[in-house]
Amino acid sequence: MAFFMFANYYFFNLKAKHPKPKPSAPIGIFDSGIGGLTVANAIKARMPLERIIYFGDTAHLPYGDKAPGSIKNYSLKIAEFLFSQGCKIIVIACNTASSIAYDHVKNNIGEKCPVLDVISPVVDKVSRSKKMKKIGVIGTRATIRSGEYANQLVNVNRDLEVVSVATPLLAPMIEEGFFNNNISRTVINSYLSKPRLKNIDALILACTHYPLIKPEISEYYNGKVWIVDSAEIVASRIHSILNARKLLCTKRSGDHHFYISDYTSSFEKSTKIFFEGKLKLEHLDLWK
Ligand code: DGL
Repeated sequence: MAFFMFANYYFFNLKAKHPKPKPSAPIGIFDSGIGGLTVANAIKARMPLERIIYFGDTAHLPYGDKAPGSIKNYSLKIAEFLFSQGCKIIVIACNTASSIAYDHVKNNIGEKCPVLDVISPVVDKVSRSKKMKKIGVIGTRATIRSGEYANQLVNVNRDLEVVSVATPLLAPMIEEGFFNNNISRTVINSYLSKPRLKNIDALILACTHYPLIKPEISEYYNGKVWIVDSAEIVASRIHSILNARKLLCTKRSGDHHFYISDYTSSFEKSTKIFFEGKLKLEHLDLWK
């Protein structure tokens, strides 16, 4: 009897401490800049009723060249902010933060709110494809140095050969709006022509900025290599998580809200491309 009274008291308090969010609660997403917008855009296409709160940490961009401790601090601060905004799930829409800070964020707030990285859904998808033998991975220095993709892929399928190449110029280049022009083509070609990437069956775009240059990358390979872009894969995983928790939104409950830690005109421009109409874009320095 005493045990049941204790159990009741315990679970009542736990529930009161972390009440279940409503389906109308927003989805929280963050990245160092515009990269996560590729994921936000895929969420909008897959789940048009969902409301998004997006944080672009433009003051600390690029994450790819930062120390692991800094990436962990930035990520947790942003995740805590998104949680304080009532988000029902937090999506780390940045491969750099996913590879360095996912465990840190999950250990700190995962009990209160589900946290999703962008690496595991992609690894699941690629490793399930039987035809793949040699996989190329391109990403920021921090993502490639972490070895997360190679480790996770080989863990699932020991026969895979994974070659990883750091492509640090790409994210800042894209953030500055340089894509689909001669400069971007030259930079992309010089990275992709590295001998290590020869004869790959698939190329994982291990940076959420890279879907913006996917047409140029596909053009380089002439359609002969599977270019794996995480945006739709991650959106579909979010759908499954929310569906399993009965948290899918059934009625639109407000506008998307975009926060940036430093104002950049290129962020505003890119956001307008993905999310037409009037934008709720706010400068917010969480570190003040
Ligand atoms: N979009 C980010 C990623 O996926 C990071 C780019 C950067 O800030 O270096 O890795």
